[in-house]
Amino acid sequence: MQSSTIKHLAIIMDGNGRWAKERGLKRTKGHEVGAEAIRDITTYCAAHKTIETATFYAFSTENWKRPKLEVEFLMKLLDRYLKKELKTYQEHNIRFQAIGNIGAFSKALQLRIRDTEYLTRNNKSLTQILALNYGGRAEITSAVNQLIQEGKTKVTEDDISESLQTPYSDIDILIRTSGEERISNFLLWQLSYAEFYFTQTLWPDFTAKELDTILASFTQRHRRFGGL
Ligand code: IPE
Ligand code: IPE
Ligand code: MG
Repeated sequence: MQSSTIKHLAIIMDGNGRWAKERGLKRTKGHEVGAEAIRDITTYCAAHKTIETATFYAFSTENWKRPKLEVEFLMKLLDRYLKKELKTYQEHNIRFQAIGNIGAFSKALQLRIRDTEYLTRNNKSLTQILALNYGGRAEITSAVNQLIQEGKTKVTEDDISESLQTPYSDIDILIRTSGEERISNFLLWQLSYAEFYFTQTLWPDFTAKELDTILASFTQRHRRFGGL
């Protein structure tokens, strides 16, 4: 495999609240416009030749700490997004999958998530993964617990990789918007050799054009994976 092949892209969509604040709007408006950006970036990835998977961080295990009204708004927005975007998934041949502990969501939202996964299961141009109530540490911990339940007393790296919820593949590129330069508990295992890109752009302003520039600069990076 060429080191510049991009198969799995991961994005920490950050800055919705700041985007809204700059405009004197409520934080929730930033989330709404941010959802539009997810659609644009996803359809761009579906049309891209080598990208197989795009994983978006939409709600972390730590985001429950936010005010109740904001959390409730995000849950409703997710439900609306999946309902509305089913058409996009089918038209662009995109498979939808969720990672994270969705058991903490309302029954109706869990059903919406599972239905969307089921209805798009045969789509082939791209897998869009939304990380929902997701935490990298929680994902690794539950993988290890699953292995213990299976009777393992000693585990290998492959055992852990195969027991993670994220369909197994290493991340090639991680992008975080909004100028913050941290992982915030995203895909800790899968990011081992990812190339990181931080942009000042706030998520609702992030465009396919900027992504295109990032992907072009990725081809100039020399990934060594510990070798020479
Ligand atoms: C990212 O934007 C969306 C979620 C974490 C749900 P933020 O809501 O974190 O926006 P800022 O960082 O406060 O600007
Ligand atoms: C990370 O953004 C989580 C998501 C984008 C869903 P946060 O805004 O929650 O991260 P911190 O709190 O700034 O690290
Ligand atoms: Mg944030």
